[in-house]
Amino acid sequence: MLQDIQRYLTCPHCGLGLALDAAGRGLRCPAGHSFDVAKQGYVSLLGGGAHTGTGDTTEMVAARADFLAAGHYRPIADALARAAAEAAPAPGGLVADLGAGTGYYLARVLDGLGGEQVGAALDISKFALRRAARAHPRIGAVVCDAWRPLPLDDGSAELVLNVFAPRDGGEIRRVLRPGGRLLLVSPSPRHLGELVGALGLLSVDEEKERRIDEKLGPWLRLVGRTEVEFPLRLPRPDAAAVVGMGPNAWHTDQARVAAALAELPEPVEVTGSVLLSVYE
Ligand SMILES: C[S@@+](CC[C@H](N)C(=O)[O-])C[C@H]1O[C@@H](n2cnc3c(N)ncnc32)[C@H](O)[C@@H]1O
Ligand SMILES: [Zn+2]
Repeated sequence: MLQDIQRYLTCPHCGLGLALDAAGRGLRCPAGHSFDVAKQGYVSLLGGGAHTGTGDTTEMVAARADFLAAGHYRPIADALARAAAEAAPAPGGLVADLGAGTGYYLARVLDGLGGEQVGAALDISKFALRRAARAHPRIGAVVCDAWRPLPLDDGSAELVLNVFAPRDGGEIRRVLRPGGRLLLVSPSPRHLGELVGALGLLSVDEEKERRIDEKLGPWLRLVGRTEVEFPLRLPRPDAAAVVGMGPNAWHTDQARVAAALAELPEPVEVTGSVLLSVYE
């Protein structure tokens, strides 16, 4: 709930701290800027002039929620939970998930920590955050833009998660406490390789890791990287979902994907392959 994370939140207009009113319906800063809590439990702290065009649509969010609920990406959640436990965040401390989507990974990480840590689900899509707000009792959901100053205080986060989502190294560094860690999940070039070939999807280029390291380099130091590779056996609707929930949703003709999927044997056998990188 927002109550759990309000002490870490800052006003997008003036940067001062925010506090919830007694009824829990709005956040307000000492300068008088106020933000209504939506009835679904999230709050928007988008500054002026922000646009939400890159946020997941309601269809993309639904596809992702169903796919994750089926447990297909469980190995990724398990690996994140292990890395989070190794980072040993202070009891009661903040775990921020940048581009949190439905809050699936953040909820798993909080459950695995057992120190009553609290979670901030940050995303630009209110459709995603409606779900994230319900994903765990200690998650607060905040609409914001990863490319603008994050509405979190300096040094407030023990851990930042970033899973298949945009990131700004300078902002992550600013909100992390000294010694805090960023756990970043990105697709490897083999991720969903069989579908990329059969359906003509966007492929992950071989240079992706190097580019991520380069961009984060001025702010954060890579301290560990593990490959998480696992077989996926997908019923056709789930194979369609994995296409519909990622960047391909923006670039691929759905009807053509469905036609190509109908030609594949069911279940569709696909490789899941991601890199979990730890930065300090
Ligand atoms: C591929 S999804 C991953 C979601 C989640 N981490 C997961 O793996 O289930 C990318 C997420 O980034 C969010 N996003 C896109 N652009 C954003 C931005 N500029 N600021 C914050 N979030 C953004 C989308 O709304 C979406 O929820
Ligand atoms: Zn303010």
